[in-house]
Amino acid sequence: MRVPRHVAIIMDGNGRWAERRGLPRAAGHRAGVKPVRTCIEECARQGVEALTLFAFSSENFRRPLTEVGLLMQLFLEALDREIDELAGKGVQVRFIGARELLAAALTERMAAAEARTRDNAGLKLAIAVAYGGRWDILGAAQRLARAVAAGELDWASVDEARFGAELALGDRPDPDLFIRTGGDQRISNYLLWNLAYTELWFSDTLWPEFDAAELERAFAAFAERERRFGLTSAQLGAGAC
Ligand code: FPP
Repeated sequence: MRVPRHVAIIMDGNGRWAERRGLPRAAGHRAGVKPVRTCIEECARQGVEALTLFAFSSENFRRPLTEVGLLMQLFLEALDREIDELAGKGVQVRFIGARELLAAALTERMAAAEARTRDNAGLKLAIAVAYGGRWDILGAAQRLARAVAAGELDWASVDEARFGAELALGDRPDPDLFIRTGGDQRISNYLLWNLAYTELWFSDTLWPEFDAAELERAFAAFAERERRFGLTSAQLGAGAC
């Protein structure tokens, strides 16, 4: 079976999972840690090169302060708890997003996790925290504009490859497969540039119930898709891609 090189996931439905059980939303977020672990393990096992998880969007800061605080605490605890195992499994960890919006206690741990796993050769895991696709594109445009203004860069040399390289995931292949749980069918400001030709797969399963079997269903659906990248089927058959 053709396995995606890069999988990007929006983990949605924690709140509803908890509310349906009469539990506080926090319980849903806590229950959402297990499927994160499952996805990392399964992707590593199946030879997926990169996995990018949307943990907290730029817009999630608008949630009640208590929920934001709880999520940040959960990320901190999960990082402290899981980093040894991730490092031991050869996972390379990276965080993408506006770090200046996060507490120092968290960003220090994030930087330490990145430094510790930088040379690992296994699964390239990126966790998007305080991330937005528009933030990413705007940041790239600003950095390039600054370089042009400083005379360090010729604007005419900025093509798609150069622009893409400036993004948070500029050194990784674009996602082949995008998964969103929780029933909604939208991109929600995730990896806007990178998802241009990504295969989209939506599931009604709420994130805390997402498991290896469900991931396998997504991979099976991906393997069935014909990826044309703007070409025709006949061109692909003739080996044009
Ligand atoms: C969306 O569900 C989920 C989040 C905003 C948080 C994602 C966090 C986790 C899965 C916890 C573990 C993560 C890591 C990286 C350790 P929602 O709250 O929007 O659910 P709803 O749509 O049902 O309200």
